[in-house]
Amino acid sequence: MNGPTERHGPGAAVEIMSSQLPEIVADRIRLRTINESDLDQISAIFSDPKVMRYWSTPPLGSPDEVRALMKEIETGNEEGSMLKWGVALKSTDAVIGTVTLFHLDLTQGRAEVGYAQAQAYWGHGYIHEALQALLRYAFEEMKLRRIEADVDPRNTASIKTLERLGFLREGFLRERWHVSGELQDAFFYGLLERDWIRPPAQTTTCGNQEQFPNQNNLSVRR
Ligand SMILES: CC(C)(COP(=O)(O)OP(=O)(O)OC[C@H]1O[C@@H](n2cnc3c(N)ncnc32)[C@H](O)[C@@H]1OP(=O)(O)O)[C@@H](O)C(=O)NCCC(=O)NCCS
Repeated sequence: MNGPTERHGPGAAVEIMSSQLPEIVADRIRLRTINESDLDQISAIFSDPKVMRYWSTPPLGSPDEVRALMKEIETGNEEGSMLKWGVALKSTDAVIGTVTLFHLDLTQGRAEVGYAQAQAYWGHGYIHEALQALLRYAFEEMKLRRIEADVDPRNTASIKTLERLGFLREGFLRERWHVSGELQDAFFYGLLERDWIRPPAQTTTCGNQEQFPNQNNLSVRR
């Protein structure tokens, strides 16, 4: 689960010089910075009750909430506390989903991952491809050691998504969430860099890498 109002631990100290995230290119999609022109797509995704069914916050209900989310995305990227990429189809550049690294603890070499996709695009492997690309970036460029995920036990599609990538179920947390009047349990998943099954080398490329000179101490500069 993840949502627009994540708590950020004291280790979330990525140094960010602007709100531009590195572009990460995969076969059919690319991960890119979300901007104003994506507002309608972001609104559609995060207002859809089906997409938000197991999210940690309710669906967005008003234009003000959408604008607040857009602002939160921009601020999160700027401060390095929540890195949220748009998953854009290479063919049209339309944003069909998002993938996020949050709860970044660079001292400990870990982060949590979140993802959401517009219903019309479910079942095509786009998020799988996006997360493969994101994991490559997180492990190889940011040098993280461990990626975590928190998922509702009823969220079968998300569980499949994680397990297809090699995540292992590490725990069951009772009543971890209270969303829209409902108490929700959580499965906690983890993936270690050493257990990660790398996709073929040419599958992803990461744009403007020369602008990330300080990867060893996990500082991200733009
Ligand atoms: C979680 C979520 C992103 C998964 O979406 P998805 O469409 O199932 O995931 P993918 O895009 O990776 O597609 C995987 C499916 O496409 C199929 N597929 C087709 N081509 C594929 C390819 N090239 N590679 C991988 N899978 C492919 C897979 O077989 C799989 O189908 P299956 O689930 O029937 O086995 C989506 O359900 C969602 O947005 N849910 C709401 C938000 C949410 O709950 N987020 C997670 C919070 S923890």
